[in-house]
Amino acid sequence: MTTPASPPAPEPAPPSGRESLLGSMGSMGKGVEGLAPHRIPADHLPGFVPERKAEYVNTMFETIAPHYDLMNRLMTFGMDRGWRNDVVAQAAPPISGRALDVATGTGDIAIALARRVGPRGMVLATDFSEAMMRPGPGKAAKAGVGAIVRFMAADALDLPFPDDTFDCVTTGFAMRNVTDIERAFREMRRVTKEGGRVVCLEVAKPGFLPVRFLHQCYFNWVVPLLGRIITGHREAYRYLPESARNFLPPPALKAIMERAGLRDVRFRRLSLGAVAVHTGTKGT
Ligand SMILES: C[S@@+](CC[C@H](N)C(=O)[O-])C[C@H]1O[C@@H](n2cnc3c(N)ncnc32)[C@H](O)[C@@H]1O
Repeated sequence: MTTPASPPAPEPAPPSGRESLLGSMGSMGKGVEGLAPHRIPADHLPGFVPERKAEYVNTMFETIAPHYDLMNRLMTFGMDRGWRNDVVAQAAPPISGRALDVATGTGDIAIALARRVGPRGMVLATDFSEAMMRPGPGKAAKAGVGAIVRFMAADALDLPFPDDTFDCVTTGFAMRNVTDIERAFREMRRVTKEGGRVVCLEVAKPGFLPVRFLHQCYFNWVVPLLGRIITGHREAYRYLPESARNFLPPPALKAIMERAGLRDVRFRRLSLGAVAVHTGTKGT
């Protein structure tokens, strides 16, 4: 899936099994088999089999894709735009630089990156769900960056790019869905140039107990209800609070990024701690 008249992508990696995985995802929505589960956030949900988490996640996002942007705006009271802009500020790609947004979904972070790198830059936006990426090219064109962003299928755990390709790599609300978080960060680090940053936006839990209580009530009761009303799919918006509730606290995610080889890893909590932005640097 590509935008028309988009600049050429970086050279594909040499044959290493990466192309074959990408090729196997040519017809999307089938999920990715054979990946070991890292965490089991939703093992009591109907249809959830830990060994097939990637497939479950893929199918779930296929289902909610048409409503994803609307749900995001409503669920976050529009704050998600500010969070994504913060990710881009932390990633700090150079003007005319080359950026990658992993598990891009409908492409909001990629579009924000494209505004930053400008017309001589390039942004690759990858996801394993074609349905999630479907609105992306139209949104990018509407934002005036259609020629800068290119959407393509790729598994976050096996990125089809050579080492040291991008000035920065970003990812938003995806790490709680992958089956191996450390491997995803290793991949993001691998394709980042020396000195470039890897930035991750994820859900977190507010530290102040009364706020945490309200946040949990909202996530556990209001979000599934909203999801059910807007999308008609109850289960998908049960999975999201489950995966958020079971996700790692920011210090643990920081430790994983460090194990993946990133340096100077730090995180900032935003919106009373409802989300966290982690930033690490590739360097020796
Ligand atoms: C909650 S959405 C976030 C989308 C977008 N980054 C954002 O900020 O709105 C999570 C996305 O991760 C994608 N995803 C999950 N696991 C993936 C994997 N292993 N490889 C590629 N994409 C994956 C899903 O298809 C989905 O589009």
